[in-house]
Amino acid sequence: MKLYVIVLLCALFTLTQQAPSPRDKCSCELTNSEKAFPHEKLGSVETNALKCNSNITPQKTLELESLLLGLERRLPQLQDDVSMLEREDDGDLYAVISLQVIENELREIKLFMDRLNSTTLGHQHLTADTSQQLEELKAEMQELETYDIMQVVKTQRANKDLKKELDQCSNGLATIQPTQPLQGNCPHGKFLNVTGPRVYTAGEYPGSYKYGAWGQDPKPQAGKESWYWLVMLTSSNRYANYVRLYSSLSSLIVGVSTPGNVQISPSNPTTNTIQGPNVVLYGGELYYNCYNLDSVCRFNLTSQTVDTLQLPKGTRFNSKGNFCHLDECYPFTDLDLATDESGVWVIYTTTQDFGNLVLSKVEEGEPLRLGQTWHTSVLKQGVTNTFMACGVLYATRYLNKELEEIFYSFDTTTGEQRFNIGIFIKKMSPNIYALNYSPVDQMLHAYCDSYMVSYKVLFNRNGYADNVFY
Ligand SMILES: *[C@@H]1O[C@H](CO)[C@@H](O)[C@H](O)[C@H]1NC(C)=O
Ligand SMILES: *[C@@H]1O[C@H](CO)[C@@H](O)[C@H](O)[C@H]1NC(C)=O
Ligand SMILES: *[C@@H]1O[C@H](CO)[C@@H](O)[C@H](O)[C@H]1NC(C)=O
Repeated sequence: MKLYVIVLLCALFTLTQQAPSPRDKCSCELTNSEKAFPHEKLGSVETNALKCNSNITPQKTLELESLLLGLERRLPQLQDDVSMLEREDDGDLYAVISLQVIENELREIKLFMDRLNSTTLGHQHLTADTSQQLEELKAEMQELETYDIMQVVKTQRANKDLKKELDQCSNGLATIQPTQPLQGNCPHGKFLNVTGPRVYTAGEYPGSYKYGAWGQDPKPQAGKESWYWLVMLTSSNRYANYVRLYSSLSSLIVGVSTPGNVQISPSNPTTNTIQGPNVVLYGGELYYNCYNLDSVCRFNLTSQTVDTLQLPKGTRFNSKGNFCHLDECYPFTDLDLATDESGVWVIYTTTQDFGNLVLSKVEEGEPLRLGQTWHTSVLKQGVTNTFMACGVLYATRYLNKELEEIFYSFDTTTGEQRFNIGIFIKKMSPNIYALNYSPVDQMLHAYCDSYMVSYKVLFNRNGYADNVFY
């Protein structure tokens, strides 16, 4: 629009300048009925719009979302406990104990409400400010639009709307097409996409431990179904010697660890303590890379005993077979433990595989042993993390600070591998040090530069409800 006005004015200006010799002087009067375009005004509108954008960050909305999610999961539990108290209320010891449990819960909920209150107050101010700013911007833009004599903006807008409709139309057509054959043997159907984050929290020790892992036990003991676990590499960013437990997601978010720690060993690091971030909890037992060994350790949280499982000769360990991207390798990520619908897996690399990813099933029974092994043709150094879902191995790579790409899959049922998955994970901080899939609720749990983040995996048999809500 600017350009047209300027060109027009220039043309007229040149016309008036081309006055020939004084004799045949001819004057031409230019009366410009149009007002001059207010460039400064456009400039200030642009700056205001930018300011508005930087005030509202996705983090702000997420914070609120995860607090609400936490509260949503906390309240039914309180209700259960209260009804249990009512049933037990015969004046004896049990009632007293339940009462204490409920008091604890109320205290946690109070903490929650306080956080929520301060968050919402902040948001209210922000929303009020922003909507006023938006109103002002809108008015200014409408005013500026009167200068748009060539109707450029209007036409552009109409084109954009048309394009949007066209896209929607072709997407609609695409979904009607028959789906591709299922990957793996998956009750949820084909792995379609990853959305979120749904949870994004700094937890109990904001910023303290850069490396770690967290999640939910897919095969919990009775009564521990809503528990969450957290392992932070508390020593040298490499080692850990305990598992921290939370009775619910909301407790993890507000940082109230009621069951507390279960310790593998009082000193750290030492034989059979944790080395590296990619650990998982399954069936009340923690699976991880044992300190200074090419072995998987299994720590039973109840008996507090450790079993070890020796990996094949040639397995890279002690930070010699790490996940990497161009700029950086993630230290002590030699062994990546993973869970899916069928149990526990270990992903690693060996000298004889020339650094390519190797995948083995871990048979969880007694004694702990290594099941079937698969050899892939993807180089571990070009991979930042892996996870399993429905017997399919997925590998990610670092694209930039904002995006991680799930680019590779290996189906253990068919042996088929693909390098063109093209599903993107929106990151909240640059590095995902641990990534694991929870078959309980099809969430991906990530530990990124001390933040705990989770994403929802969409499968084509989740039903459309999931696709709409997440
Ligand atoms: C929320 O916070 C404000 C300001 O700190 C306080 O006045 C108000 O009582 C709080 N509301 C609740 C429900 O805690
Ligand atoms: C996957 O989800 C993201 C974020 O919700 C969305 O932008 C993208 O279009 C989706 N991709 C596909 C292939 O559906
Ligand atoms: C862990 O140890 C307890 C106590 O010895 C035992 O009952 C339980 O079966 C063990 N867990 C597993 C998964 O073996």
